[in-house]
Amino acid sequence: MSLLLKPISRVFLFQSNFQNPRAIPNFSSVSASCSSSYEAQKMVRQFDPKIPIEQAITPPSSWYADPSFYAFELDRVFYRGWQAVGHTQQIKEPNDFFSGRLGNVEFLVCRDDDGKIAAFHNVCRHHASLLVSGSGKKSCFTCPYHGWTYGLNGALRKATRISGIQDFIANEFGLIPIKVAIWGPFVLLNMDKEILPEDNIDTDQIASEWLGSCSEILRLNGVDSPLTYVCRREYIIECNWKVFCDNYLDGGYHVPYAHKGLASGLTLDSYTTSIFEKVSIQSVEGGSKETQDDRLGSKALYAFIYPNFMINRYGPWMDTNLLIPLGPRKCLVVFDYFLEASLKDQKRIAFRLQIMETFFCRPKSREEKRTKLSLREA
Ligand code: FES
Repeated sequence: MSLLLKPISRVFLFQSNFQNPRAIPNFSSVSASCSSSYEAQKMVRQFDPKIPIEQAITPPSSWYADPSFYAFELDRVFYRGWQAVGHTQQIKEPNDFFSGRLGNVEFLVCRDDDGKIAAFHNVCRHHASLLVSGSGKKSCFTCPYHGWTYGLNGALRKATRISGIQDFIANEFGLIPIKVAIWGPFVLLNMDKEILPEDNIDTDQIASEWLGSCSEILRLNGVDSPLTYVCRREYIIECNWKVFCDNYLDGGYHVPYAHKGLASGLTLDSYTTSIFEKVSIQSVEGGSKETQDDRLGSKALYAFIYPNFMINRYGPWMDTNLLIPLGPRKCLVVFDYFLEASLKDQKRIAFRLQIMETFFCRPKSREEKRTKLSLREA
């Protein structure tokens, strides 16, 4: 019995810290310490949003490299509001699930037998083992450490060798839910709001909360149209996550020099940028009909959704770039490709992916920089 009592006492320790899902990041030392948070806030105060864009200067390097600033922005940027974490094809059928990590928060998203989507902290309520990894299909989640088993609704179904333990109420040890919602083909999480398991999904306010006033513009441009999922590719990049965002948001400034092939197929004079509350939309027209190919179409739209999600819609294609911070100087970018179903053939797909490879993998450093490359056929 003594062997059992020790872990159970830890259970209650975890329970008390997990009452508020927002407490998990603190428990996992996500938040900056008081002094480093103070330093980070001092850095933020250097930013004056009232300065006109014509007089703006590049943010200080500390915003891109200082560990305390990184911890501060995880708390203030990524643990608040809606965050894109995947797409609905990953949980297309009952019992499908996928897991991931945002900052120091491990999460899992699943679809239960009834088709209901739910999300939880991917942390066992016993001794906080990671519960599942990767993605796939499961009818329940069994902890690899001591075998506690949870249903896809998060309820604790079985606590191994628990008989004889007093005052243990299984209902109190379900997985901690995370607020989850769907917009178009995208799965979103919100770690900012406390929820009860039974009201886990909120679809009413999602468009305005996530996209502000431009959700209709994105709809009209086919961002939420039913395309077929093609594949995923992932790249680890040795830079702060905002460097990738800065590049994306430079209004095509780098395109004539860094992407000469792409530039030759675009009418760069038509480049426009429209800024909304949480979204920036860049668009550009394709070149002449003779030079158009299906990676460009007649018009390309590049939507950046604060803080780290990009949607590129062009011709019959859509690809999304999800930028996941891995530290002050490292990030992971996840590309998901979608295509009009009638045009899904291997030659077209291989051609498109080959072009993307040239953007990410310069000839000399191709093998070093591509640390993880995966292609999963839909
Ligand atoms: S950590 Fe013990 S069952 Fe999960």
